[in-house]
Amino acid sequence: MLRTHTCGELRIEHETQAATLCGWVDSTRDHGGGVFLDLRDRYGKTQVVFAPEAGESIVKQASRLRSEDVIRVTGKVAPRPEGTVNPKLGTGEIELRCTELEVLNKSKTPPFTPGQQELPGEDLRLKHRYIDLRREAMQRTLVLRSRLIKAMRDYFEEHDFLDIETPILGRSTPEGARDYLVPSRVTHGAFYALPQSPQLYKQLLMIAGYDRYVQVARCFRDEDLRADRQPEFTQLDMEMALVDSEDVLGMIDGLMARLAKQLLDIDLTLPLPRMTYDDAMRRFGHDAPDLRFGMEIVDCTDLAAQTEFRVFKAPATSGGFVRGLNAKGAAGNYSRKMIDELTDYVKHDFGAKGLAWFRVEEDGSLWSPIAKNFEADLLPQIAERMGAEPGDLLLYIADSWETSCKALYGLRKRIGAEMKLYDPSQMHFSWVVQFPMFDFDEESQRWVAMHHPFTAPLDEDVAKLADDAGACRAKAYDLVINGSEAGGGTIRIHDSAVQQQVFGLLGIDEETAAERFGFLLEALQYGAPPHGGIALGIDRLVMLFAGLDNIRDCIAFPKTQRATDLLTEAPGQVDQEQLRELSIRVVPQGDQ
Ligand code: AMO
Ligand code: AMP
Repeated sequence: MLRTHTCGELRIEHETQAATLCGWVDSTRDHGGGVFLDLRDRYGKTQVVFAPEAGESIVKQASRLRSEDVIRVTGKVAPRPEGTVNPKLGTGEIELRCTELEVLNKSKTPPFTPGQQELPGEDLRLKHRYIDLRREAMQRTLVLRSRLIKAMRDYFEEHDFLDIETPILGRSTPEGARDYLVPSRVTHGAFYALPQSPQLYKQLLMIAGYDRYVQVARCFRDEDLRADRQPEFTQLDMEMALVDSEDVLGMIDGLMARLAKQLLDIDLTLPLPRMTYDDAMRRFGHDAPDLRFGMEIVDCTDLAAQTEFRVFKAPATSGGFVRGLNAKGAAGNYSRKMIDELTDYVKHDFGAKGLAWFRVEEDGSLWSPIAKNFEADLLPQIAERMGAEPGDLLLYIADSWETSCKALYGLRKRIGAEMKLYDPSQMHFSWVVQFPMFDFDEESQRWVAMHHPFTAPLDEDVAKLADDAGACRAKAYDLVINGSEAGGGTIRIHDSAVQQQVFGLLGIDEETAAERFGFLLEALQYGAPPHGGIALGIDRLVMLFAGLDNIRDCIAFPKTQRATDLLTEAPGQVDQEQLRELSIRVVPQGDQ
């Protein structure tokens, strides 16, 4: 080793010992007589001193050092002079008085420094990711990621899971996104699809008798990117045979308790709370509600049907809903102008037609510019339904079920954050269960799988597959942490006839099913045990455990919103020769 210690290691106990450190020059301070610098590696920082006693030449050499130079220094550990101890630093009580200095590599002036106060723009950080990754915050997150994956692997190993790799070059697996395709050179005109998940392979492993499978699996989805989505991301993917939902949920409950304890020193109470999909939509307007605070949706449709005020009456009497939120004590926090902003927000972001609101006055009465439109006896009933107290702000959306869910979910989330209704460092884990099997896609006028087409219906709902598909619920469950979907899974169909029936409902005809999933349908006929599993989004878990709000900060080399890698400039052009071998011709843009 070029060093005897890391830059985070030396303590007052090492006083008078000799040590050799290597690292990056973090900052230098020239104090007339001597040179002081902070030397940094991923373990920490150590103050290094080149004092005049060490000789003129070394001091001179040290004075030429610049930020991000890589150096090797040897010296003696000494206590810092009184008044210069830095209690914030592990090594803050000591310094290394150097007698030797070797420059291992001089750095060009970096585009930014890891220690600079203000973060540079994200594009610059991504382009020079190797510098960005030197930042302490990035290191902390990647250390957390590594520990989280290790803890997961240990847990599953203790529970008899086998870690089995599945192919990256394979057939398309429908998880609802576009595939990334890889052309075959050998088979003219044929393509592999990069896996959107190892879904079909893990089911085949269950049929093969490997009853507990786990994998840290890379998944690829060509979809619109957001703060919590990457085109290439990592799942903790698992599958179990001879189980029902309870067993999978129990296994993941145990995993979450382990991770929360080991990584955050939080004691979780098990089992984790559960809520049905229907309840989640009714109470929070979303299938991944943030349960760190209350402010549940209150349905006032029946009361709204009694008024002549058309904004409320029309939807309430024609299949729509009038639902509201009670923002407790928020009347004083939201001025008219701010309520106008909330109104614009629900209109623009969720397509709501407006936002009706009331302020609860000292005497408990409701005040609003629209209050005059309501019959006098109705307002007290609305107030009572909402649990209104003086100082509360009541907000209503009168619309279709979907729009009212979306808009109220958005409002609740925004007001929860603005009113600081929860401590952002608090963690809340829960399950949402019993999702519908299908969602009706208005555009294509057909059913689409809510999770994926291999999901089993609830036993009591199997009959509905024949005549009431919309009401058919699935053995499906999502793990929700702080209002984010951290994982999702299902019990699978293990019967080829039911699988065919579901394909039929999804408009996948027999021929297409045979062509795309024939291998699965066939395998299901050779001794398929009941099975099910789940995949957790590791990038998202790290984001949530680290208290961050962007998964790019949890991935060493992430892609931009445009799915590009600014560091290596992928995707890039390829040689004509390579294209010719693959029988691919690139058509100029616009000519497709
Ligand atoms: P699903 O599609 O719900 O299920 O994915 C499981 C979890 O993976 C994470 N995730 C993502 N993370 C980052 N970027 C993305 N683009 C992205 N897409 C998904 C989420 C999500 O909850 N095969 C099934 C699992 C199963 O049924 O066992 C599947 O992939 O945290
Ligand atoms: P209007 O009569 O359309 O000007 O609406 C009167 C008030 O009701 C305004 O404050 C609107 O923001 C609100 N409003 C209109 N449509 C809706 C709706 N569908 N849901 C809730 N509030 C609405």
